[in-house]
Amino acid sequence: MNPLIEPFKIKVVEPIKMTTRAQRERLIKKAYYNLFFLHSNDIMIDMLTDSGTSAMSDAQWAGIMGGDEAYAGSRSFERFEQVVKDLTGYRHIIPTHQGRAAEKILFSSIVKKAGGVIPNNTHFDTTRANVEYTGTTAEDLVIDEGHDPASTYPFKGNMDLKKLKACIEKAGPENVPVVMMTVTNNSGGGQPVSMENLRAVRDMAHSYGIPFFLDACRFAENAYFIKQREKGYADKTIREIAHEMFSYSDGCTMSAKKDGLANIGGFLGINDDVLAQDCRNLLILTEGFPTYGGLAGRDLEAIAQGLDEVLEEDYLRFRIGQVAYLGDQLTKMGVPIMQPPGGHAIYVDAKSFLPHIPVNQFPGQALTVELYLEAGIRGVEIGSVMFGKKDPETGTEIPAALELVRLAVPRRVYTQSHIDYVADAFVRINERKKTIRGYKFVYEAPFLRHFTARFERV
Ligand code: F0G
Repeated sequence: MNPLIEPFKIKVVEPIKMTTRAQRERLIKKAYYNLFFLHSNDIMIDMLTDSGTSAMSDAQWAGIMGGDEAYAGSRSFERFEQVVKDLTGYRHIIPTHQGRAAEKILFSSIVKKAGGVIPNNTHFDTTRANVEYTGTTAEDLVIDEGHDPASTYPFKGNMDLKKLKACIEKAGPENVPVVMMTVTNNSGGGQPVSMENLRAVRDMAHSYGIPFFLDACRFAENAYFIKQREKGYADKTIREIAHEMFSYSDGCTMSAKKDGLANIGGFLGINDDVLAQDCRNLLILTEGFPTYGGLAGRDLEAIAQGLDEVLEEDYLRFRIGQVAYLGDQLTKMGVPIMQPPGGHAIYVDAKSFLPHIPVNQFPGQALTVELYLEAGIRGVEIGSVMFGKKDPETGTEIPAALELVRLAVPRRVYTQSHIDYVADAFVRINERKKTIRGYKFVYEAPFLRHFTARFERV
């Protein structure tokens, strides 16, 4: 493979504070072995999330200076609205401060009565929480390959059409206010959805008179995978592919903190005039006037510019290539990861990497601590700390289905040598993995415990 080069030069730098292993031993102990308690200054490579962590371009920063902060009728909104309309083709563009605000407004408006069902390939946590908040059940209907970490199926984010049909028939179409699809499928490993599947899901939803919406956070990464992997798309531009993806849907929720290449922002795109009016009314109540929606004018400029840059093929080749490169390095040394590498992150299968640590001693947590100790890297456990539950009767732990550690790659932030540094940390952890020990809670909150839990080494 030709060496992957960054398709950008570095004009501004943010120093990384180097720490020693001895310092990190002290810091992680003080943080009760929970990486959420660490100060970002004490982290060398932060792979906690790809959300809101992108590096902005010179053109985005220049746009920020041109932000129009008028309360109503801001020209920054006009630019933003035009860019999003050209990209998506939706009739109504409603800015929000981030993705979950768009979700809250959409589900509050589209769910007319409690007791229904909203299907998705896999709901992201905030999407699920916002669906459930309306008294609606959130169903995850990804294809079976999506549950198999070893399967190399090219579109593991696809919806299972049989399961979707059964779900709609069981609930009754009148109780399904919307069908959603998450591109790429973050909670399923950042795996893409094929154009063919989007079309088929749209056809099925519409045959029952149900609207179809995208959770479009990582639409450009999904479009790049379609170009690489789906027949008939190799010669199309990313913009054409993205436009086609959006054209099959009746609207979308979007977090511009991902493929908007911005540090904050989001939007709701809608075709239906009545639904859009309802959403705008709620927006005024919770976010702000429809020409800024919880954002500053300068943020709208940064997003408008970011949505253009994210479609550049050189950028996406590097972006997807960098994540794949990390995945390949780990695979070569025998570290089990979710295959194939997703668009924005590598998910290490900690249960098979550390088979001597039982799931009730949290192998994923053990690996995140070890990555920090070894090299100052912060990943995030997506396993039984995050998704395990206590049996309400007996109080014993019910483990999550998978024990993963997500290494999310921020956009345009880290160079290839940073990625080599991460891979190198795994070489050394791999050599001494049998000595790694598990963890137990010394404090856990009754809900969302991963954020505030305190641990002790077993
Ligand atoms: N949908 C998906 C698929 C997401 O990945 C996220 C956020 C959201 C919605 C919510 O957007 O954060 O702007 O409110 N994912 C981040 C992550 C937090 O780390 O994966 P938001």
